[in-house]
Amino acid sequence: MTEEQISTPALVIDLATVERNLQRMQDYAGQHQLNVRPHTKTHKSVYMAGRQLAHGAAGLTVAKVGEAEEMAKAGNDILVAYPYMDPARRAALVELAKNKTVRVAVDNATALEALGDAATSAGVKVGVLVDVDTGFHRTGVQTAEQALKLAQATERFKGLRFDGLFTFPGHIKNKAMMADGQAEVSRTLREVLDLLKKSGIAAPVVSGGSTPTSYFAHHVPEYTEIRPGTYIYNDHNCLAAGWCSIEDCAARLVCTVVSDAVPGKVVLDAGSKALTSDRLGPDPEKGGHGLLPEYPGAKVVRLSEEHGEVDLAACAIRPKVGDRVHVIPNHICPCVNLFDNVYFKRADGSLELARVDARGKVS
Ligand SMILES: Cc1ncc(COP(=O)(O)O)c(C=O)c1O
Repeated sequence: MTEEQISTPALVIDLATVERNLQRMQDYAGQHQLNVRPHTKTHKSVYMAGRQLAHGAAGLTVAKVGEAEEMAKAGNDILVAYPYMDPARRAALVELAKNKTVRVAVDNATALEALGDAATSAGVKVGVLVDVDTGFHRTGVQTAEQALKLAQATERFKGLRFDGLFTFPGHIKNKAMMADGQAEVSRTLREVLDLLKKSGIAAPVVSGGSTPTSYFAHHVPEYTEIRPGTYIYNDHNCLAAGWCSIEDCAARLVCTVVSDAVPGKVVLDAGSKALTSDRLGPDPEKGGHGLLPEYPGAKVVRLSEEHGEVDLAACAIRPKVGDRVHVIPNHICPCVNLFDNVYFKRADGSLELARVDARGKVS
C-alpha cells in the first residue's frame, strides 16, 4: 500500500525516524547510567513498546490500567503513573501483578491503603513509588515528611513494597526554565531522599522526566530512570520549543484538500476529530492547529470537527482541491488516541496498517 491509496485523514508514522528517536534517547541514557521507562501513552502500541524494549528500555510506563493490560503484551515491568484507582481497576491491576512486575505512583494515603488492601488480598506484591511535587503542582506530596509517612505506611501492607520516588516536571517547558527548574527538582528530591535515609528507608528507584527534560536529566543526579513519552514521535510542540528538528517528527497526518471556495484559504478533511483541539504552547495564536511542512507560511487557523481551515495569505505555494498535504500535529499523544489504526511507513515508502492497541483505554 502507498500513501496515495489510503483514505484520509490518516496518521502515518515513519518507522526509520522512530528508530532514530529511540536510539538517540537510549544512547543518552546509557551515557549517564539512567534507565529509560518510556511513557507509552504517546503511541499506545504494543509494537512500539516492543521496539522501545528492544532498544534497551528497562520497563514501560502507562497512565491507566487498561493501557497496562495492553502493554503487558510487550513487557514484564510496568509503572502505572496514576495515583488512585477505583475497585474495578484495582482488581485488574492486582491480576496483572500475578505475572508482571507492577509499580504504582501514589501521593495520598487513601490511594495507598486501597491499593495495599487489594494487593494483600490477592496475594501479590505491588511496588510503590511516592509521587513528589517538584514544581508542576499537579500531583505529588508537598513535603519530605509527607513522603516519609507514605513510605512508612507502605511497609504496613504485605502486598506493597516501597521502591522509591516519582516526579513529573511538566512545568519545565522551555530551555530558559531548564537550569533553575532542574535544580529545584534535584533539591526537592534530595531533601526527601535524605529524610528517608535518616529513617533507614532505601529508595532504589527515582523516576522522573518528560520529553523536554530528558536530555537534561543528568542535571538531576537523584534520577535513576527517565520517562519520556512524546520523544518517540515528536510533534509541533517539541519542534517549536527546540527539542527536536523537523526530521525527528515521525508522525504526520495525511489530509486531502476538500475546498478552496472561500478566497485566501483551503479546507482540509481533518478537524478537531483528527488533529485534536490542543493548541501550540506557549503561543497558541501564533502556532495554529498544526504545521504544514511543505507549505511554509500556511497556517491552520480554525478547526471544526471535520474541517481544518488553512490560511494561505503568507504562503507562496498553494495546494489545490484534491491535493494531499501533511500536517505535523501540535500534540501527538491525544491525536494518536483518536485513531483505531495508524499506518507505519517503511523505508521503501510502503505503508502497513497498524492497530493503536490501547486506543480509548482511558480507565
Ligand atoms: C507522569 C508522566 N510521566 C511522563 C510523561 C511523558 O512526558 P512527555 O509527554 O513530555 O514525553 C508524562 C506526560 O504527560 C506524564 O504525565
